[in-house]
Amino acid sequence: MEAVDKTNEAVDKTKEAEKKTDAQLTRQEMFHLLGQRIKDIQAEPAIEHDPENVLEVHNLLKYFPIKTGLFSHVTGYVRAVDGVSFNIKRGTTMGLVGESGCGKTTVGKTILRLNDMTAGQVLFNGIKIHELPKGELRKLRPKIQMIFQDPYSSLSPRLPIAEIIGEAVREHNVVPKEEMDDYLDQVMKQCGLQPYHKDRYPHEFSGGQRQRICIARSIALKPDFIVCDEPVSALDVSIQAQIINLMMDLQKELGLTYLFISHDLSVVEHISDTIGVMYLGNLVEYASKEQIFANPLHPYTEALFSAIPIPDPDYKMKRVILQGSIPSPANPPSGCKFHTRCAKCMEICSQCAPETKEVEPGHFVACHLYD
Ligand SMILES: Nc1ncnc2c1ncn2[C@@H]1O[C@H](COP(=O)(O)OP(=O)(O)OP(=O)(O)O)[C@@H](O)[C@H]1O
Ligand code: SF4
Ligand SMILES: [Mg+2]
Repeated sequence: MEAVDKTNEAVDKTKEAEKKTDAQLTRQEMFHLLGQRIKDIQAEPAIEHDPENVLEVHNLLKYFPIKTGLFSHVTGYVRAVDGVSFNIKRGTTMGLVGESGCGKTTVGKTILRLNDMTAGQVLFNGIKIHELPKGELRKLRPKIQMIFQDPYSSLSPRLPIAEIIGEAVREHNVVPKEEMDDYLDQVMKQCGLQPYHKDRYPHEFSGGQRQRICIARSIALKPDFIVCDEPVSALDVSIQAQIINLMMDLQKELGLTYLFISHDLSVVEHISDTIGVMYLGNLVEYASKEQIFANPLHPYTEALFSAIPIPDPDYKMKRVILQGSIPSPANPPSGCKFHTRCAKCMEICSQCAPETKEVEPGHFVACHLYD
């Protein structure tokens, strides 16, 4: 009886809180709503695996607690990833774009469980990453890799290249000991490095070569899936194309699947098969590259894509200028999180978060314009 009363009380609290906008909520009501959202997602049935997909992500949540005061009380949450779902087919690349701070890196790290997941489901080749015990996850590590933006800080300055590339290969017994030397030569050549580079240290290489070393370190582990987080943003424009081409060649040769995070839409257009657009922790649009470039549906995507320069002197750019800056994910706007900056905002937009709809086959959008 007591349990039923408690459940009713919780339902009443949720109904009461749901009537308010985020700005009107008390901290307790906010905590209650977020807790309820986490519970609802945790209670969802297991998603079904489609063998065509390497990665399947459903309702991924990552909330970072904000701690203040001497006793580190949790006073709020940064809702860095707030219910993101997508799939990536084997051998393809999904580009993930959006303004700085919208949660792209957090999606990548949380999928790999480099961050603890708040809630949601992630399947890698059908394996439930979100439920995997630490030991099992460690065994799976070689198969899911991440390449970071900064090839300077992601390489230990004290180790020679052979050691940097070979360390994890040895640890995970990827090849027998006696084949190690030849294997490293082969991987280095595949990545455009020479075997005589083996004894050199990272500071002896240029930025582009260092990124080649990072790529070699990843592919040496024979991965299936790589999260590439802005892998060329820190490089000279002239070098960027070489690295992108290398990654595309390796993808074909080795059947790799990529999640390619970038804010450079020209790079994303070049490498991606599908594209997801993120805004303040949510995926607002997701489609094939062709669909999204030919027919961007979400007002945020439209604004983002209108900024891409077109090399045609007769073409007049209709650039959509976004008003204001991206709000804080610790206190996002109510309803559609984009409503404070959207030129097409309607009354419903500030009250109710839009659901994701499939507007044409494979083209998903979360916006009330398509209700
Ligand atoms: N470890 C952390 N603790 C607390 N907040 C974090 C942490 N990591 C990220 N955040 C916050 O989560 C939000 C999303 O950050 P994230 O780094 O994922 O954005 P991003 O889209 O990758 O941005 P950028 O394009 O600048 O790399 C930001 O508000 C960020 O401040
Ligand atoms: S839901 Fe409303 S505010 Fe949000 S993008 Fe669509 S039209 Fe704009
Ligand atoms: Mg980032």
